[in-house]
Amino acid sequence: MKFKKNILCIGAGYVGGPSMAMIAHKCPDYRVTVVDINTARIDAWNSSELPVYEPGLDEIIKKTRGKNLFFAKDIENQIKENDIIFVSVNTPTKTFGDGAGKASDLQFLEKTARQILEHSQSPKIVIEKSTLPVKTALAMERILASAKGKITFEVLSNPEFMAEGSAMADLENPDRVLIGSRETESGLKARAQLADIYARWVPVEKIITSNIWSSELSKLVANAFLAQRVSSINSISALCEKTDADISEVAKAVGMDGRIGSKFLKASIGFGGSCFKKDILNLVYLCSYYGLQQVADYWESVVKINEYQQDRFIANILGSMFNTLAGKKICVLGFSFKADTGDTRESPAIYITRKLLAEHAEVVISDPKALKNAAIDLASDKGKISYIEDPYSAVSGCHALAILTDWELYKKLDFQKIFKSMVKPAFIFDGRNIIDHKKCFDIGFNVYPIGKPALSRFEDQSSV
Ligand code: NAD
Ligand code: UGA
Repeated sequence: MKFKKNILCIGAGYVGGPSMAMIAHKCPDYRVTVVDINTARIDAWNSSELPVYEPGLDEIIKKTRGKNLFFAKDIENQIKENDIIFVSVNTPTKTFGDGAGKASDLQFLEKTARQILEHSQSPKIVIEKSTLPVKTALAMERILASAKGKITFEVLSNPEFMAEGSAMADLENPDRVLIGSRETESGLKARAQLADIYARWVPVEKIITSNIWSSELSKLVANAFLAQRVSSINSISALCEKTDADISEVAKAVGMDGRIGSKFLKASIGFGGSCFKKDILNLVYLCSYYGLQQVADYWESVVKINEYQQDRFIANILGSMFNTLAGKKICVLGFSFKADTGDTRESPAIYITRKLLAEHAEVVISDPKALKNAAIDLASDKGKISYIEDPYSAVSGCHALAILTDWELYKKLDFQKIFKSMVKPAFIFDGRNIIDHKKCFDIGFNVYPIGKPALSRFEDQSSV
């Protein structure tokens, strides 16, 4: 079959796979190919066990794979054959050299740019889908501009705003699609070509355009604002615990103000995920680089509050359980950084588990999708750790359970049955405020929510 457009995506990760699957699904007359240097990942995309769990993804892959969606390993050849190339490689925080711990590590992006340069035989539109520091497109353009001969490259910025766990719904019905370009004739032409792809299913008023630097920066700022809301509500949860106010009631009252809005006001053990921390630290680095130290400090405080929230949670467990966890068995219910994903990158559960192990607690980890990743994350940690998917078997014989992920299934557990199987006094630390605290207290548990008065039979020891 002859396809109208040939689209390539370099990077078959959490973004590349689902976003290209959606394009293939919505544009059956386009051929979409996804490549990756990680060949095991490509094999997984071609198997029945996809490397990424997302509700709704399996169905779309089944409909498109082998028809107009292909996962391939021949990167060089694919670069030759495709004219529109999305770049969706990882951009982690730099761990070495200048800017270590804050700046973005752009080595994967640069390698990709050089590969595109080396193997292109015709003009290309190269689209940054990865999240990047503002002005990265300039570096990309400079590398590509070193092409010998007449091949031209147009670099666009098209940041991805989907969230994990709801990726398919977000991709199908995005709040907006942002396309940044150079405001030259060729830049505007390339921008229009990309807008045409999205216009197949996204209402045109939601496809917005900007200059390329605004586009790059908007992505970092959107993540910083979202994370800031989580840190803001989490900071207030600490005050609620001191004053008998209830964070859910406060969030509701505050969020009903239309100017503030109700989303991202759920108090928790803190935000996780591969991007919030990395993107804020990148923003912090950029602000410092441009000499804006006050602005850098403001955004860095969002990350500090997130760390403080996790430390408070641990201190609460320790304080409430008579200041010793040694030899006690604690069940961690939920290891992924949020519900509906198996992704554990930067999950607060990693930090919390390590702290529990440091106190010589025995940790039982339960999660419906993330046990494989949890075992990889904790592979080099010393101490007693076990992995049990079934929550009832996992909590049996434990002194406490800590709910760290907001999986729907945890809301529906039979806590009467759980209580019977646990060592008494039994403790629940609800890091997501998702269960019925009063009901659990009445069953016999000592219950410690986030940002609400503890329901404890040992009030005195519980204060943090
Ligand atoms: P990921 O680590 O899951 O996937 C990136 C993939 O790129 C990896 O499989 C890696 O092997 C591959 N890769 C790296 N260098 C390559 C090269 N030279 N050639 C071919 N493949 C190469 O990362 P991700 O979560 O998909 O994120 C990708 C980018 O998208 C990041 O910049 C991230 O900040 C951004 N982003 C992520 C999300 C999310 O929900 N995960 C959402 C929006 C934006
Ligand atoms: C986030 C953004 O929401 C996406 O728009 C963005 O594209 C993506 O980052 C990215 O750039 O990677 P994601 O990290 O997948 O998406 O998930 P979120 O729903 O934003 O949750 C992030 C963390 O905040 C999770 O740990 C979640 O549990 C926590 N959170 C979220 C709260 O603690 N409270 C809330 O009210 C909302």
